[in-house]
Amino acid sequence: MPKISDAALRRLEKSARAAAGRAYSPYSHFPVGAAVAGGSGKIFSGCNVENASFGLCNCAERTAIFSAIAAGERSIKAVAVYTPTPLPTAPCGACRQVINEFGPDALVISICDSKSRIDTRLGALLPAAFGPGDLA
Ligand code: THU
Repeated sequence: MPKISDAALRRLEKSARAAAGRAYSPYSHFPVGAAVAGGSGKIFSGCNVENASFGLCNCAERTAIFSAIAAGERSIKAVAVYTPTPLPTAPCGACRQVINEFGPDALVISICDSKSRIDTRLGALLPAAFGPGDLA
């Protein structure tokens, strides 16, 4: 299980909240911010980026993960997702699969505008996942 300090978790949550402010979501009007802690400890953030061709919309989590990987990270310790909603939002199925590639044991935290939150692990959100090992 990847370890992450409380202070690092607080930084991750703050980064996810800030990223939602940069969301490009003119179609859904559903801004999402995400932040991931890479294996190095560095934090990378992302927002959802929508498109007039709706199928090309990219979730905040994947934006953040792709930034981390493009910067050289090869593992993910934790993912935080923020939505400005009364209840927290868990990552969609596609994002769960992408998290699994780099962080099968990653901590996954969803926060919102109330005290309600989800604190879980990727393995609980995507049990019996298909992953790199299946291609070995
Ligand atoms: N969205 C995310 O960014 N992350 C999720 O886990 C769920 C959905 C985005 C995609 C789209 O831009 C908007 O929320 C509505 O589905």
